[in-house]
Amino acid sequence: MQAVRRSASIITTAGKQFTRSIAVNSATINANEEHNNLKSWREIPGPSKLPIIGQLHHFLPGGSLYNNEDFINNVMYERFGPIIRMEGYFGSPPIILLYDAEASAQILRGENWMPNRPGFQSLQYFRKNYYQKQGAAPDGPTGLITDHGDVWKKFRSTVNPIMLQPKTIKLYTSSLNEVAEDMIERMRLIRNDKNMLKGNFDFEMNLWALESISVVALGGRLNCFDPKLPESSPARKLIHLVHEIFTIVDQLDFKPSVWRYISTPTFKKAMKLYEDQISISKHFIAVAMKELKSKNQPSFEEKGVLEKLLEIDENVAVIMASDMLFAGVDTAANTMTATLYLLANNPDKQKKLREEILSDKDKRSYLKACIKESMRMMPVVAGNMRLTSKEYKILGYKIPKGTYVSFIHQALSMMEQHFPQPEKYIPERWIAEKDDPLFHGNAHPFAWNPFGFGVRMCIGRRIAELEIETFLAKVIENFQVEWFGPPLRTRSSSLNYTIGPFNFIFKDVK
Ligand code: HEM
Repeated sequence: MQAVRRSASIITTAGKQFTRSIAVNSATINANEEHNNLKSWREIPGPSKLPIIGQLHHFLPGGSLYNNEDFINNVMYERFGPIIRMEGYFGSPPIILLYDAEASAQILRGENWMPNRPGFQSLQYFRKNYYQKQGAAPDGPTGLITDHGDVWKKFRSTVNPIMLQPKTIKLYTSSLNEVAEDMIERMRLIRNDKNMLKGNFDFEMNLWALESISVVALGGRLNCFDPKLPESSPARKLIHLVHEIFTIVDQLDFKPSVWRYISTPTFKKAMKLYEDQISISKHFIAVAMKELKSKNQPSFEEKGVLEKLLEIDENVAVIMASDMLFAGVDTAANTMTATLYLLANNPDKQKKLREEILSDKDKRSYLKACIKESMRMMPVVAGNMRLTSKEYKILGYKIPKGTYVSFIHQALSMMEQHFPQPEKYIPERWIAEKDDPLFHGNAHPFAWNPFGFGVRMCIGRRIAELEIETFLAKVIENFQVEWFGPPLRTRSSSLNYTIGPFNFIFKDVK
């Protein structure tokens, strides 16, 4: 049923050259497969190629995809359909882009025993060298973002029982609540006479996200909200670094770059940024460890993430804390901005949310629904990636072992066949009953995947959810959030960044 509905909608929304290969139901595709009638992956449609430079001209000034903020979502899908081949350049391999939930499920499930998520190769290159220079074994860990295979598996099984344990994460409820209250106070302090925040709104959200993740990663406060925090302070430096790293990763690892052959100025800059990020994180971790040692030892149950990890393996604890400070700032901050924007533009939903918050109910299902809905419409991560460890037969093509496949869940979760009225912000769909046409369970389970999938799913998911729920509840309790002017824009990079102007108004709730 899913496949039939999917085909129909694809034909009406795009209806171009690709319809021939997919305007069939899954039974027909299976029959084709049985008859071994599959096409080579080289025949997968994609942007046209020129001699020598291949598809590169599309991304150069004047090219159809040059600086196109929406190319990964709508433009590509509408032109080429649910499976697209992008050429590799300068040592980076070709990538298959998938806009089909069932085909994504097939590969993500097929890879779930030991998933390899490529995408941060320059960071991986740096970390391998860095840790070896520090005396680590060549097969020593460098972190969940950059490790693969047995090294990743060992690291992940060490941190999983701690970082995904609801009881451990719950320990942070009151500290995150304090962070949220302090941020509200700061917002009041830096409001101008128009009730807008002075300075950069995105930077303010990053301050909140860094202060929040530090509570978990370092077991204490960084005091990012101090109005006297100097520009040269390590906290401010870290925020700028994380931001710059995600941008440079995009240039080196997600766009054509010759860094594998030539040490370009961008590559040199990246190596410096990566090193500075580790140095600053290590500085914070050293201070945190010193403070922990001077404190009375709580029982194991009451110990936080850093303390528990330190007890198991100091090296793992330091690497994990550093990755939390890296992966947990821009992700949470941009999700928060997107949620506030959508609530500001949907005052009826905001009112309903405020009513739930003020009712002091223990179960805040509408709050969770509001966040899920904003992650459907404006996810901070547009897609995910796997390196295939075997051959797959999908959508009429053979995808060989060793292929990079990217799953564009942002586009999937905006498709009518998965989520009716996809352009509308309807948190109700996440709490609707089964017989309601909006019921989220009618969507294919792989059409909404903001935290990734399976054993490699985001390790910070529970932490991020608690942080965002806590802060969002405080903002809505305290402020009537409004928006004026043109819609909020986003820039697609390795993350989806919301970009200014941030026309938010925060009026006191009467
Ligand atoms: C709204 C916030 C966040 C979103 C949407 C998000 C999303 C993601 C996604 C899509 C992945 C890839 C998963 C996969 O390959 O299947 C991932 C991985 C990861 N995330 Fe998050 N993330 C968020 C917040 C955080 C936070 C707060 C932390 C810090 C604790 C964090 C740490 C990580 C790490 C370390 C990985 C790599 C996991 C692995 O490969 O084993 N993330 N995240």
